[in-house]
Amino acid sequence: MILILSLSPAEDRIYYIKNFKAGGLYRVVGTLRSAGGKGVNAARVASALGAEIVLAGFKAGETGNWIEKQAAGLKGVRTEFLEVRGETRTNINIIDKESGTETEILEAGPKISADETEKMTGLLTAEMPGASVAVCTGGMPEGMEPDFYAHIIRAAAGEGVRTILDTSGEMLVKGVKASPFMVKPNRRELGVYAGKDIKGVADAVKASELMLSQGAGIVTASLGPDGAVMSSRDWCFEALSPDIDVVNTIGSGDSMVAGLAVAADRIFSGCRQGAGKAGKAISAGDAEGMLRLGMACALANTQFEDIGRVEPEMVERYLSMIKIRRIS
Ligand SMILES: Nc1ncnc2c1ncn2[C@@H]1O[C@H](COP(=O)(O)OP(=O)(O)OP(=O)(O)O)[C@@H](O)[C@H]1O
Ligand SMILES: [Mg+2]
Repeated sequence: MILILSLSPAEDRIYYIKNFKAGGLYRVVGTLRSAGGKGVNAARVASALGAEIVLAGFKAGETGNWIEKQAAGLKGVRTEFLEVRGETRTNINIIDKESGTETEILEAGPKISADETEKMTGLLTAEMPGASVAVCTGGMPEGMEPDFYAHIIRAAAGEGVRTILDTSGEMLVKGVKASPFMVKPNRRELGVYAGKDIKGVADAVKASELMLSQGAGIVTASLGPDGAVMSSRDWCFEALSPDIDVVNTIGSGDSMVAGLAVAADRIFSGCRQGAGKAGKAISAGDAEGMLRLGMACALANTQFEDIGRVEPEMVERYLSMIKIRRIS
């Protein structure tokens, strides 16, 4: 089972509006409403790949209930949402295809108390014996400390559960120090972490080495159209995508995380750290397989307007089209 955290889920609403400018009155050309937040997006993709998932987070008000209902309707997903006061976020994205601009309006969502944070820790800890992989993804609601993921990563390791961390800023810095199994920064997150612009693969490898030296087991750096680089202390792979036309790349990183988690779950389910295959460092072959599935999911997601959507047949097709080269 894959345990996916969604501490700050959101209802994503996209409005397609032509020639949008502030101050005007507009009729929408189209709308799209989806249950989102990075954890929910990743859960939807992992579900499409046939994984067994527990999606855990906070929910508030009607929006929270709606998101939970959407997620619980996905095949293989069990939801464990702690109800808190307030209203779960709705995020609005106004897309103007004429001018190519996007205008985002983000709500804050509920504030979480120390007591609620503790309850969440208890809930997650209770799920760990059944999990092989835990995914810590996204930001945190107001009121939570940025070292929360670090706590969860340490608790998971104690239970033999491998964590995949996809977050930013201080949550990322503190999380890396807790020695997660894998970190998945994008170009911007890696650049902020290293205090340097990531221009190409060489820069990404260098910044990944810094992250490895500070605790990460594996770093999968995603570089948008330039593919991805996966490094550990023992090897480094570069993955290149085929030339494709994209429809919408939002959620591709989340889809990549889902593919990485599903591949890791297939390798480690039934194993525990310190025992058998799972006790050893992951082989270069297994790593290549994880990278390939992660990339294939990311590419499949670019082919849909929807955020965090893949179709298994498309993922299958992309698997063989991705070029992976060992750098070291
Ligand atoms: N324009 C593109 N063309 C081809 N592949 C893309 C493109 N954008 C993204 N991808 C694929 O998706 C992967 C993840 O993209 P990216 O690095 O932008 O992640 P991200 O910023 O974390 O995304 P998000 O946070 O929106 O989910 C890339 O490694 C690549 O495989
Ligand atoms: Mg991302």
